[in-house]
Amino acid sequence: MRLNSPQINIISKACMKASRSLIRDFGEIENLQVSSKGPGDFVTSADKRTEKIIIDELQKAHPEYGIISEETGYINKSNTKNRWIIDPIDGTMNFLNSIPQFAISIGYEEEGEIKCGVIFNPIMNEMFCAEKGNGAYLNNSRIRVSNKKNIKESLIVTGGPRGESKIKDKIFSEYINVSKNVSNVRKFGSAALDLAYVACGRFDGYWQRELSYWDIAAGVIILKEAGGFVEFFEDDNSNPLKRNILATNSNIHEELKELLK
Ligand code: IPD
Ligand code: CA
Ligand code: CA
Repeated sequence: MRLNSPQINIISKACMKASRSLIRDFGEIENLQVSSKGPGDFVTSADKRTEKIIIDELQKAHPEYGIISEETGYINKSNTKNRWIIDPIDGTMNFLNSIPQFAISIGYEEEGEIKCGVIFNPIMNEMFCAEKGNGAYLNNSRIRVSNKKNIKESLIVTGGPRGESKIKDKIFSEYINVSKNVSNVRKFGSAALDLAYVACGRFDGYWQRELSYWDIAAGVIILKEAGGFVEFFEDDNSNPLKRNILATNSNIHEELKELLK
């Protein structure tokens, strides 16, 4: 891999370390599926365990950096210059159901701009990473978005609505409209991997409402560095951690955007 910023090294090391316990925890889930207690609480603690390993590792390198992490929230909130953005398990519902479609996602932001990120699916052993100006990689190979130009032939991925969403009807009608005008739509259950899959050309585009910043921070730089285009729409200015995202291979961007109107 030709990425060499200190931050990407720190992030990949933290991912590798956390993934060892995450893989063990994933192995436990199958046993818990059939136990009377069920895996619910176990997953919550796996999430926290993974997060702790990541935070400890990142803080060892830079105790002064800010952190936004899904389970813990803000650490060193006043440091907005250098910040790690962490989702310890993105795709918890899949993890809970023994489906190996989940990932650790860690982004690094400088002065409000995402500079690098890693998304690691430890079960498939797929590490997606990118650094501003230096391209995007899957393991040791350079990745690029697809070159599909026709929206009618495109494979699109999306997610949601969340259980508590107040705009379910709107989300379902967008789903119907997009489905009618593209080759097919998938829902894979991990926003981070959805973005990574657009970055390496497995999907041609992705949109989703009501995401959190940690779902997509790493994915945004990976997709951009792979030649994709990312846009946030209908921002909720009262909550900068909530995001609606439209991310594509660039070619089909305007047409997909049109379908969401
Ligand atoms: C979720 C996943 C899912 C998306 C949800 C997210 P979590 O993250 O990214 O794909 O549809 O909106 O909350 O809860 O598994 O970290
Ligand atoms: Ca998430
Ligand atoms: Ca999560």
